[in-house]
Parts: sequence; structure tokens; C-alpha cells
Amino acid sequence: MAVIAEVKKLSITSQDLQTLVSDISFSLHTGKTFCLIGESGSGKTLTLKAMLGMLPNQLHLTGELLFNGTNTVPFTRREWQRIRGKQIGIIFQHPEQALHPAIPIGRQLVDLLRSHISITKLEAERQACRMLDKVGLKPADILMKRYPHQLSGGMNQRVMIAMALLLGPELLIADEPTSALDVTTQADILTLLRGLTAESEMSLLLVTHDLLIANYIADTIAVMVQGTIIEQGNAQDVIKHPRQEYTRILWEYRSKFMIT
Ligand SMILES: Nc1ncnc2c1ncn2[C@@H]1O[C@H](COP(=O)(O)OP(=O)(O)OP(=O)(O)O)[C@@H](O)[C@H]1O
Ligand SMILES: [Mg+2]
Repeated sequence: MAVIAEVKKLSITSQDLQTLVSDISFSLHTGKTFCLIGESGSGKTLTLKAMLGMLPNQLHLTGELLFNGTNTVPFTRREWQRIRGKQIGIIFQHPEQALHPAIPIGRQLVDLLRSHISITKLEAERQACRMLDKVGLKPADILMKRYPHQLSGGMNQRVMIAMALLLGPELLIADEPTSALDVTTQADILTLLRGLTAESEMSLLLVTHDLLIANYIADTIAVMVQGTIIEQGNAQDVIKHPRQEYTRILWEYRSKFMIT
């Protein structure tokens, strides 16, 4: 099982020297799903932004962020442009912020493809259509022509997944991709992500505040509290035999909603 990305002793501090993320380390593997779980403000999104070279300028980071063995911390904007969106796919929480409102979704996929690889418009349309179909948007040839506002939140989130997968990323980073969706759509999207990860050798880094979601999808779980990882390990071990009181309480609260 190959390591795709490694976070080594990552710390992030603010301008006023507040420690926002403190000395965290974890590894991501091919074909596996890693869930970063934690309460609001614990530093999950900042960690992802650091891994994508998207940390705001006023924040300072130390540590190493390896992607395929190369430390990306000193990367220039141009170096990031080569891998972000291509080798590393991204799914945000709110698709409406990431999709262009005035361009049909099919064209957004076609433009993305053609901005990275040299193919004809017709071939790009074919690939875009195939990808929409793969993420469950059917009939894809008709939906290609729709604008984001003509689709539901769940459908737009599928478009986001299609865009993130279009260039065949080795790593997919998803920040609470389903928290704005209803429970059934949430389950469909998570099942889709789980299937895609299993079939394509891609590594998935998923941020969630929900241990139930982590239980469904994760191979490995890391629990974050106030900028530090308090425990991490095999998902079933962390959930069934938590070493930390905080994780145990998280699970107890979540279990209250389950029918047993
Ligand atoms: N640009 C910034 N400057 C200073 N502090 C920041 C900045 N961005 C985030 N923070 C702080 O860093 C901490 C971690 O933020 P982060 O967005 O990573 O939390 P999170 O775990 O993703 O929370 P949520 O579950 O609500 O999305 C928070 O206390 C936040 O206020
Ligand atoms: Mg966040």
C-alpha cells in the first residue's frame, strides 16, 4: 500500500502568534480513505488548505507536507497550478461557490479538461458526459446543458465530484462535502465516493464532524481537538475502542441517533 501524501509535524500560527494547528502528522495511502474529524474550529480546514498550498498569507506554517515524496511547502504558485485540480482533486462544502453560475455545467467540465490536456472539443465533451454519468447524473447528455441553478444541491455536489475526478487525481480532498445535504442525498454521495475510491486506487481525505460518516467510509480516523490530533488509527479501533474520553463521548452522542 503506497503512501501518496504525508503531513509531518505541521503547525500553523496566526499573525498574533496564536497556535491554530499544533504539531500534527498523518499519512494517506492509495485506495484508502482517511477521515479527519473534529469539532468546529479545531483546525481541519486549515490543515487541508495547507496541504493544497492555499493557506492565507498571514498564517505561518512549519513542518513538511509531502506529496509523492516531494515537500510542497516551498512550492511556487506555478508549481501548485500544475498539481492542484489535476493530481489533487478538491471538493468544497458549498458547490455553488465553486461552480460558475452563468456557464452550463457541461461546458465547465469541458473547459477544465481542455485547460489541462490537449484534446478536441468533441472528445472533451465525450469525456465530460461519461464522467457525469459515472457520478450518477443521468441523462448526462441533457444535464450537460443545465446551469447550476437549474440543479438541486445534491446534483451540484455530484457535478463538483465529477469536476474533481475529471483529471484522474491520485488524491481527492473533500471538506465536509455532504454537510449541506439531506440525509438520503448525503448517503448516496458517500456511497459514490466510497465506490470511486475503491475502484480507482485514489486516496480520499475527507473532513467531517460526524463520526457516523467516518464509521461508514473511513479506513483510518484522526480526531482533532483544538489544533492537535488527540488520537488516530484504524477506523474500527478508534470507534469501538477509543483511547480518548473525547472520542468516546463523540460516539456516545452520535449513537443516540441510531436505531439499534
Ligand atoms: N485567516 C485566519 N486568520 C486567523 N485565524 C484563522 C484564520 N482562518 C482560520 N482561523 C482560525 O483557526 C481555527 C481553525 O479554523 P478551521 O477553519 O481550520 O476550523 P475547522 O476545524 O475547519 O472548523 P469547522 O468545522 O467549523 O469548519 C479557528 O479558530 C479559526 O478561527
Ligand atoms: Mg472547516
